[in-house]
Amino acid sequence: MPPDRVHFFDTTLRDGEQSPGCSMTQHEKLQMAHALADLGVDILEAGFAISSDGDFAAIDTIAREVRGPVIASLARAKRGDIERAAQALERAEKSRIHIFLASSDLHLQYKLKISREEALEQTAASVALACTLADEVEFSPEDSTRTDPEFLCKIVSAAIESGATVVNLPDTVGYATPSDYAGMFRMIRERVPGTDRVILSAHTHDDLGLAVANSLAAIEAGARQVECTINGIGERAGNAAVEEIAAALHVRGDRYPMENRLNLSKMYSVSQLLAQMISFAPSPNKAVVGDNAFAHEAGIHQHGVLSNPLTYEIMTPSVFGIPANRLVLGKHSGRHALRSRLIELGYNLSAADLDIAYRAFTELADRKKAIYDQDLINLVAHHQRHEDLIHEEPAEKIK
Ligand code: KIV
Ligand code: ZN
Repeated sequence: MPPDRVHFFDTTLRDGEQSPGCSMTQHEKLQMAHALADLGVDILEAGFAISSDGDFAAIDTIAREVRGPVIASLARAKRGDIERAAQALERAEKSRIHIFLASSDLHLQYKLKISREEALEQTAASVALACTLADEVEFSPEDSTRTDPEFLCKIVSAAIESGATVVNLPDTVGYATPSDYAGMFRMIRERVPGTDRVILSAHTHDDLGLAVANSLAAIEAGARQVECTINGIGERAGNAAVEEIAAALHVRGDRYPMENRLNLSKMYSVSQLLAQMISFAPSPNKAVVGDNAFAHEAGIHQHGVLSNPLTYEIMTPSVFGIPANRLVLGKHSGRHALRSRLIELGYNLSAADLDIAYRAFTELADRKKAIYDQDLINLVAHHQRHEDLIHEEPAEKIK
């Protein structure tokens, strides 16, 4: 039996790129695609071939040049879209056409202006066509989480009967809670014949800040593919973040005893690469890749982390390719952190000198939001000049 595995479907270049401030040039997309392949994503959604000539060209180039992941293009349930996607994917080592068609009454009535019956016919016909043009076909009933469950079962069933091997159940508008979302996967698995032969996939948006929680709930309920983006970029509040799902699977292997093929040590560099390409970096308090994700300012935390990082860190930054935990010096910091940073800077002070330095440091920290290394160097130099740090053993410069 093959190992139980969660497949990572990266949609940074499609769902991520289509959000404000996140557009990338063709060259940048190719660079990003290579980085994602090195990271070990299983499927790389390179764009939406029919949406523009630029998207077509990016998918085509990535399909020709990037090896490792399955390369996917999005397509509506229309002949023209599917043929265009197939054309863009022609040179891929392994290709996937990802068809989406709205299934909620709200979307059917107001957006597509078609009946449920027409939606079922379009699903069957488009999936069957795509199966003749690509190695794999994925079907997404858009707005699944606001779709009538009876009808959701019917449309998923039509897709499976027509040959789809991956069925994605997107929470398009970020409406579901983790228990709703898990319940939907369980319901589909119980009621739709053939779900044991396909991979069920989670695709979540962060409108309620639940995207990662929902993806994890879906995994617990049987999903074996997660669709996510680097740094969680994506429509509105974004998509589930690759790094956060990966970190949860890594740290909580007790709860998620499944394999995946990500090379976690590449995570930080891919996140940084994306941040340089688009117009914003992850917020400092962003899990895993934010600047403060492994930073500690409070004295008690700093003391703990210096004696054993596990006291206040549930994961080791280097696992994700992040240089080291950062002790940020500020008004909440204690002597231990100051001493440790001064030693790193080459100043090994006696206990009495450290007391004097610490007093000066707290005065400075009350005035400044953050204390930089240069501030500490100035502080020690100033006190040495004024012979405040005078003791039998003068401050020893060790570097
Ligand atoms: O959010 C969504 O529903 C999508 C689909 C195209 C899968 O991005
Ligand atoms: Zn989406």
